[in-house]
Amino acid sequence: MAKILVTGGAGYIGSHTCLLLLESGYDVVVLDNLSNASEAALRRVQEMTGKTLDLVVGDIRDTSAVRALFAQHSIDSVIHFAGSKAVGESVEQPMAYYDNNVVGTLRLCEVMAEVGCKRIVFSSSATVYGDPDVVPIPETAALRTSNPYGQTKLVIEQMLREIANADPEWRVSLLRYFNPIGAHPSGRIGENPNGIPNNLMPYVTQVAVGKRPHLSVYGNDYSTPDGTGVRDYIHVMDLAAGHIKAVEYLAQHSGADAFNLGTGVGCSVMDVVNTFERVNGVPIPYQIAPRRAGDVASYFADPTKATQLLGWQAKLNLEDMVRDSWAWQSANPNGY
Ligand code: NAD
Ligand code: UFG
Repeated sequence: MAKILVTGGAGYIGSHTCLLLLESGYDVVVLDNLSNASEAALRRVQEMTGKTLDLVVGDIRDTSAVRALFAQHSIDSVIHFAGSKAVGESVEQPMAYYDNNVVGTLRLCEVMAEVGCKRIVFSSSATVYGDPDVVPIPETAALRTSNPYGQTKLVIEQMLREIANADPEWRVSLLRYFNPIGAHPSGRIGENPNGIPNNLMPYVTQVAVGKRPHLSVYGNDYSTPDGTGVRDYIHVMDLAAGHIKAVEYLAQHSGADAFNLGTGVGCSVMDVVNTFERVNGVPIPYQIAPRRAGDVASYFADPTKATQLLGWQAKLNLEDMVRDSWAWQSANPNGY
């Protein structure tokens, strides 16, 4: 079976994808500098699957380390998760974000070109759509973004398209994730943010487990059905499955394509809170707070293209997501 290099494979989405790759019979090599992850995640992935993977602790920008990895392993395709992802931090430290995300991807692609491994699945983000003109958002929507993190995703998308235009041996999938939440249903692996979570679901689970007193709901005066922000939450296991489909697609198709990975269903902050309380039987105290700067009222995916071309569709719903997020947080109140 083909061997896949997973950069950032020790992280949240990467660890779930490694698990599914191993279960699907792929050989897996992870390159991760552990800047935002723990080796424990991959130990657990190996225990859960009864299979082994290779972990190379190193940085995508370290060209000699990446060269050595490709010399040691015959890699068929790369799934490229490694990068920095905090919007607020990117505003404070734009240079660090361009370096890690843009320069990191460029250095990785240089080695891939050198060794003739020219298939890459890239973690893009729905943030490339900014405040969209229409929802659900198709891949053909205008691309715009208001922060350095989003800008790095746009630059990388553009760079990968141009690389594929210049050399038809390159095959590129740009996966635009909507809002990944949830965890493996066993609760053994999950999202493990450092410090105070920025994102809704890890904040909710930390309130549920008693680490934070209450959730702040950022705005209830948006023009949405209940006034709170609407997003397309997608279960991380569905997202992981999308990566397997993208790898399979690249084995058959050339060129560069972008795909939305979302459910197509918009859920409000209060939908998430109410569903969490109902499914898990745990109260989530909350207070209405002012809108958060930079937030948009509502966005959700038109996932038709991924269904038609990749044969992928999200199968899990919000109840599954809140149940599995809680399975992870309640069993691992302090993370790994
Ligand atoms: P994560 O931080 O859990 O995973 C990223 C991994 O990359 C971490 O394990 C980190 O240690 C590693 N890493 C970072 N810089 C590296 C480098 N220079 N060299 C080697 N390893 C490095 O994040 P995640 O939520 O799993 O996100 C994965 C990807 O998906 C990121 O590119 C992110 O921008 C993108 N994405 C995430 C979301 C989300 O909400 N989680 C949404 C859209 C897109
Ligand atoms: N929210 C709260 N309280 C919180 C946290 C969030 O009310 O404590 C609300 C937000 O206002 C928003 C919704 O919950 O309405 C979702 O917020 P998140 O921070 O979980 O997610 P965002 O949609 O703001 O952003 C996420 C990632 C970005 C990525 C974007 C698109 O954090 O990196 O999805 O993929 F770019």
